[in-house]
Amino acid sequence: MVPALLKWIGNKQRVASTIVAHMPTTFNNYYEPFLGSGAVLAELLMQDDTSLFPHFHHAYGSDILPFLIEIFRSIKDSPDEIIEYYTNEISNYYKNPEEQYKIIKNRFNQNHNAFDFCLLSRTCYSGVIRFRKTDGYMSTPKGPHNPIKPSAFANRVALWAELIQKADFYTESFEEAMLKPQSGDVVYCDPPYTHSQSIIYGAQDFDINVLWDKIAECKERGAYVMLSINSTRESKKKNISIEIPVGLFERELTVNCGTSMIDRLQNSGRDMADEVVHDKLLLTW
Ligand SMILES: C[S@@+](CC[C@H](N)C(=O)[O-])C[C@H]1O[C@@H](n2cnc3c(N)ncnc32)[C@H](O)[C@@H]1O
Repeated sequence: MVPALLKWIGNKQRVASTIVAHMPTTFNNYYEPFLGSGAVLAELLMQDDTSLFPHFHHAYGSDILPFLIEIFRSIKDSPDEIIEYYTNEISNYYKNPEEQYKIIKNRFNQNHNAFDFCLLSRTCYSGVIRFRKTDGYMSTPKGPHNPIKPSAFANRVALWAELIQKADFYTESFEEAMLKPQSGDVVYCDPPYTHSQSIIYGAQDFDINVLWDKIAECKERGAYVMLSINSTRESKKKNISIEIPVGLFERELTVNCGTSMIDRLQNSGRDMADEVVHDKLLLTW
């Protein structure tokens, strides 16, 4: 498991190796159009081995959030810059977390600096990146935890910098990103949860019907598309799945994601022991 660079609600870190294990053994390029914290892309690059994926050529990660993409680009090209920034800022943060959180959040909301976005993800409440619908203001309160030490962060950046040399990153909508995959490429989609994430990750509109069309087009061009979609929670008691077009996918697997952080936030105080989220992993081949 690759240690997380960003603290990101709904990340696929714990199930990334299962997702990678279901990729076809021969594919050319890898596309991830809803990159988020990049957990699956990093896991694939960690496992990249000519005996496992002999033809794997290059990875392309994209997301609608420009400051998120800027973090990956910067780590790939000049990892020392973000390490230095984190070290200075977090050393101050430990001295007066309340005050420093306000400063970082105000600064980010004024200039959308990628490094401040990284600091916010490490310090905000449970990695919930929440933006106000009306004006995009990042509104998440400070988390109660201590952000990871600069030395631990530096180690993670060094590891990620090495892994992502075989990747490129773009700020673009999934509609644009999904025009690129060709025959023999893999596309992994982890869209915002349709039932609960409309205000998390930004005020962008996400229309699942457009995603169905884009998946169908990729499939027609001969790409292998994988889609994670939330299906059941409360230990399979309550079905929250959405309607999936008939014939688009050839296989459906269930992946246990453990207790959902979103549930934990929405149900604080209630006993969550029995509440497990199962993701569906749908494959077009
Ligand atoms: C569920 S998260 C992905 C989490 C990721 N798999 C991980 O492990 O961290 C969904 C991501 O989709 C992005 N997103 C939302 N709407 C989008 C759109 N229209 N086009 C591209 N990305 C979008 C969000 O910014 C967010 O980073």
